[in-house]
Parts: sequence; C-alpha cells; structure tokens
Amino acid sequence: IEVDDFDLVVFGGTGDLAHRKLLPALYHRDLDGQLPAGARIIVTSRREFTHDEYQAWAEGALGEHVKDLEPAAVKRFLARLTYIAIDVAAEAGWADLGKILNARPNVIRAFYLAVAPDFFGTICDGIGRHNLVTSKTRVVIEKPIGKDGKSAQALNETIGKVFKEHQIFRIDHYLGKETVQNLMALRFANALFEPLWNAAHIDHVQITVAESLGVGGRAGYYDTAGALRDMVQNHILQLLCLVAMEPPESMNADSVRDEKLKVLKALAPITPELAEKHIVRGQYKAGASDGGAVPGYLDELGRDDSLTETFVAIKAQIANWRWAGVPFYLRTGKRLATRVSEIVVQFRPIPHSIFGPEAGVISANRLIIRLQPDEGVKMQVMIKDPGPGGMRLRQVPLDMSFADAFKVRNPDAYERLIMDVIRGNQTLFMRRDEVDAAWAWVDPILEIWAAAKDQPKAYTSGTWGPSASIALIERDGRTWAEDGI
Ligand code: BG6
Repeated sequence: IEVDDFDLVVFGGTGDLAHRKLLPALYHRDLDGQLPAGARIIVTSRREFTHDEYQAWAEGALGEHVKDLEPAAVKRFLARLTYIAIDVAAEAGWADLGKILNARPNVIRAFYLAVAPDFFGTICDGIGRHNLVTSKTRVVIEKPIGKDGKSAQALNETIGKVFKEHQIFRIDHYLGKETVQNLMALRFANALFEPLWNAAHIDHVQITVAESLGVGGRAGYYDTAGALRDMVQNHILQLLCLVAMEPPESMNADSVRDEKLKVLKALAPITPELAEKHIVRGQYKAGASDGGAVPGYLDELGRDDSLTETFVAIKAQIANWRWAGVPFYLRTGKRLATRVSEIVVQFRPIPHSIFGPEAGVISANRLIIRLQPDEGVKMQVMIKDPGPGGMRLRQVPLDMSFADAFKVRNPDAYERLIMDVIRGNQTLFMRRDEVDAAWAWVDPILEIWAAAKDQPKAYTSGTWGPSASIALIERDGRTWAEDGI
C-alpha cells in the first residue's frame, strides 16, 4: 500500500531498539520500495554525533542486523537520515528539530519515543512547548506502559496532555508478528473454525511464550518488572484476546479493540485463594542452555535477595458465555528448554468411539499456531495407519509451514507496525482502555505477591520451569503440549 511523504522523528536514535529493530525495519521497507521519495528519518539523542558519525553508526546497525545488504539501497536509505543532538530536558536542539519539521508542515509527522518511559513526559512536553504537533502528527510509545494500573494512568495522562487518543500508537510488537495477524485470518477468513470456537467444542487453550535466553544485560530493568509485567500484561494477554474475542464487525481499529477490551474485562479476577492454586512463579537457577553452562538469575543480577519472577504460569478463566469453563493456561519464562511461542487450542474428545481397542488411543484434535520460530499452523487429526493390518489409528499433523508455503522473507513485526503508524492505522496498537483493563487484572496478582513476600520457585535453566507448573495443569487431567513443540 502506498504511503504519503512523512517525517519520522526517533527519540533514542542511538539506543538498542533503533539499532536492532527500527533502522533495519525501515531499511527493509525502503528496499521494498515502500518509502516514498519524500520520507525523512530524523534521529535524535543526547550524544554529540556529527552527521558522518551517525551515518557510520547506522550503517553498522544495518551491517549487524540485516542479511545480504544491497549497497545501493543502503546508500539511498542513509541519505534519508538526519541526526540532531537533543538534550530533551533542556532547550538545546529543539529549535533545530523545529526548523527541519516546520519546513514541511503538511506532511505526516511521527514521533517515535524509543526511550525509557521516564522520559515520555519530558519529550511530550518538549514537543508540545515547541508547537510541533500538527493535525497529521502521531506519537509512538513502547512498553512498559507503567508498573501498575496507577502509574500507567499517570503516564497516559501525561501523553494525553499533548496528544489525542487517535494520535497515540502504543506498540505491542507481538501484534505485528505475521502469525499473530494470521490468527485473525484463520478465525475470520475460514468458515471451519468459528462454529466450533467455544466452550461446547474446545476443552482448553494453552499459550506458551518460552525463551531460552536469560536476562543478560537487561537485569537492571528486568528486576523491576518480572515476567508478569514484562510479558503477560501485554503480549500474552493480547494473544489471549485475539483467540477469545468475538468477531469484530470489521478490521477497523476500534471494532477490533472494542472486542479485545470485552475479553479483558471478562477475565475472572484472581483472588488470593485462586492465586495459590492457579499461579506458579519461578526464578531460574544455574543450568545449561543451548549446549553451554549458564549462571542463575541472581548471579546475573549480582544480588541474592531478589523475589522477581523470571517464569510465570497462570490458569486464567474468561467469564462469558463463549468461554465459561474453558481454562486458558498461560506460561512464559526466560532460560527455558527452548525458544518457542505457541498457541494450542485443544478440542474436546470425540463423544463416542466406534473403534475397538486395537485402534489405540484416540487423541482429541489440536490446532497449534506457531508464532516463532518456524512460523506455521498445524492441525492434529486422527487417521488410519496405512496397511492391511486392521483399524489402527494414529495422530498426524496437517502441517502448514509458512516458510515452505510462501518462499518469502518473514518480515519483522516492526516493519508492519512502523508503516501502520505512517498510514495512521491503529488496529494493531493498544488503546488506552485496553492497557487499563489489562492492568486491572494483573494488579491484584502483583498485590498478592507483594503481600506474601515469598520466594519464587527455583527452576534449573534449560528446563520447562518449576515442577509446580506441570502440576498446575496435570491437576486438571491435562498436560502442556510439548509434543506440539
Ligand atoms: C519484550 C520483552 O517485550 O519481548 C523481552 O521485554 C522479551 O523480555 C521480548 O525478550 C520477546 O520478544 P520476541 O519478539 O523475541 O519474542
């Protein structure tokens, strides 16, 4: 889809996100001919880089994160970049930024705040004070949006003083992942699933976002967050919403977000009694990962008194007609056995078997949506084992691997999301009330943990988390779907 000319201003332009994600994503869009001739990228940070120094830094970022760079495309891309040093808390630099932007007051203008949330207020204030907001202006913010409901509201208020809700793009990069969008295609572009997509036919749903990496250099931030805030409040609840929502009336941003909001509001609150049975928190100890020995969380942090969880498993319930009685088992963690993100929809068993004992076990159907790696969709069905030896049944996957089906590079989530910002399409971005509703469900869990002050359960790096997580689901007569993984 064509986009109009734009000025994209990246605050935090020498940071990790710009290096790893934003510049590579913009380069790819440029390479594919999606950036119009009049697209400018203005990068700012406190550092006193000269133009040439920033160009070299940006080229280094592309060199590190993009495969098969095309020299002519790199040259064209770098020519779009302008660097300005701005100390956001002071006056220096703002006037220069204003001069560049005001030369083109009528083009789309987007401010990307790729900085720690502590700076959101100061930057928005600077943008407002320097009159840089036009009718075609948008702002992009990254998580974490607050540490709890109260701080999220304060942050949203601050941003709301300068920007209107339709100008605010809250990124949850999981929504930009190809397979996550495919969840909507699968559900709403096929007649097959929707009639079965409810408590009458679905036994339970599992959402796993497992990482094999530890917290590494991010221990400072991570220790203030933990897995519940870092992954569940945003990414995992967003996935849950896309699985559980009613069909929106269209892909219009508010139609989709209205439906997601209803799911968040229907999440059954976690009480202290439920927390004890339905939630497991873990923290990784030393172990082995990707074939090598790795230190424990506390060693990486350099402290021995942290109660921060690096793993969480939750049995969540959605109290509405469609989902009453269907548990959603959620789990995420660092330093787990492998890196995999998957949604497993487990259907109910057949009501009656016409086959004799020689048929073997008849497993219930499972739909597995693999977000990463090896993106794809798999449906597990029972078939007859080939051969004349009678009716032996076997479970086999109807397997669609995206890499095999589409011989194209899988674009990074940021490529899609940045272009959506420019196009002004908020469908894949979180609305303020969604953030509030997600915190409203997460806050009581944080409060229960804070009151209990107990140690998270230890798990060895390179395993699937504390054994209590396995017990959590097995108590219900179910198992984590590791066979799908
Ligand atoms: C981020 C979290 O939002 O998502 C990180 O802060 C996590 O802790 C990351 O590692 C996972 O993203 P992805 O795209 O690698 O699954």
